[in-house]
Amino acid sequence: MSRYYYIAGNWKMHKTREQAAELAQSLVTALKDGKHEYLIAPSFTCLETVSAVVQDTNIRLGAQNCAPEEEGAHTGEVSVLQLKDLGVQTIILGHSERRHIYKEDDALINKKVKLALKHGFEVILCIGELLEEREAGKVEEVCERQTVKGLEGVSADALSNVVIAYEPVWAIGTGKTATPQDAEAVHAFVRKVIGRLYGEDAAKKIIIQYGGSVKAENAAQLMAMENIDGALVGGASLKTDTFVPIAKFS
Ligand code: 13P
Repeated sequence: MSRYYYIAGNWKMHKTREQAAELAQSLVTALKDGKHEYLIAPSFTCLETVSAVVQDTNIRLGAQNCAPEEEGAHTGEVSVLQLKDLGVQTIILGHSERRHIYKEDDALINKKVKLALKHGFEVILCIGELLEEREAGKVEEVCERQTVKGLEGVSADALSNVVIAYEPVWAIGTGKTATPQDAEAVHAFVRKVIGRLYGEDAAKKIIIQYGGSVKAENAAQLMAMENIDGALVGGASLKTDTFVPIAKFS
């Protein structure tokens, strides 16, 4: 299958069940004739509610994290088995807020990636550099390390269920977007890394989303870049009025 545009909303730690149901219902209506692929990722507490709303629609259900083990004594964690039970199809892993606020390292993220893939989930693996890493000229080094280590032990077969999201940390929630050219350069580089690891064909097929202050005003310019295949949207995904124009960009 060739590449398609994949627009995802990461709701982060927002919304009660009632608010989540309302937004999900409104998106189902607004996007039912949408031309791209869609996903929304509510908090764990809202997954069951939103699952019922998006079932049998063109919107996939995503979780924002999972535990690195199937079950056991892991107070406060949520297992892939529990996510499957709720109808979750996709798990976002390695988000910069997990890496930097909750100190998840590449090894832990890799363990989660492999477990999620083993259980048949699609994985959105997030990568991206901090501002100081960009200023130190380390963008490629950081993105390569996070990609290679995040995918360690992932077979070529399993890679078909992996999406990469390039989210420069300095662009998240700040209103500063990478220019389409800056983002494109990193996307092209990451695709090259995938090519080296899995071959040209896999590199051509893998979906690479951009994330970091995506809004209606910049979505089309970003998506026009050859190697940008979609968006992982935070703040603008919390309202129908701001998410739908991104999701329906042309
Ligand atoms: P913002 O769109 O709020 O910058 O967040 C991006 C993000 O972190 C999505 O995962």
